[in-house]
Amino acid sequence: MIAVDGPAASGKGTIATRLGAMFGLPVLDTGLLYRAVGVLTQRAGDSLDDEGAAAAAAAILTADQLDDPALRTRAAGELASRVAVHRRVRDALLEFQHTFARQDGGAVLDGRDIGTVICPDAPAKLYVTATPQVRAERRWKQLQGQGETVAYGDVLEDIRRRDARDGGRDAAPMTRAPDAQLLDTTDLTIEAAADAARRIVEAARVRWEAAKAAD
Ligand code: CDP
Repeated sequence: MIAVDGPAASGKGTIATRLGAMFGLPVLDTGLLYRAVGVLTQRAGDSLDDEGAAAAAAAILTADQLDDPALRTRAAGELASRVAVHRRVRDALLEFQHTFARQDGGAVLDGRDIGTVICPDAPAKLYVTATPQVRAERRWKQLQGQGETVAYGDVLEDIRRRDARDGGRDAAPMTRAPDAQLLDTTDLTIEAAADAARRIVEAARVRWEAAKAAD
């Protein structure tokens, strides 16, 4: 089981996907769960601050709802971080994530609280970061590619607001687990970041196997 956490547009999704391909593991982008809850809550006409309404949307969420391209928009990222502050929403999404994480053969999960709350016993943990400016640039390019027209300054503003909200909330705040390896991708290409991530996971695997053998 590999846990990949980090802030918006740090490269954690790309790294999780690459690790999944390298090690032959299924990957769950847990951000999509919160994006879906945000979008469904809004579509139902409920307030994002209504914890009960958002938790009810989370309780009936199914895997096939995660393919909706509407979840990838800039607006959905904002809705996600607003419903993600609610403890009941997070609780309702726990079982889905645990089931995915515990499947035979292992899995990769990426998010904000995988190494701290969802899978604190994960043998391999990464915390992926980059400067807000570089993350905003990446997200801006990604949104342009999706056909969303938005100013760079607004994307940077989104990123700073989301970092503050995700890191400052009471329920499972975004933070590096003490045993997570820090991977700063600010100056790294995708190839270099994926390679660094592979080395972190391989080192964790050696440690884990040695600990198992010593048991
Ligand atoms: O791709 P990006 O990093 O912008 O966003 P995401 O990973 O799809 O997550 C969207 C939002 O969902 C985050 O800003 C968090 O508020 C929330 N989230 C969370 O609270 N816990 C997770 N495990 C994953 C996402």
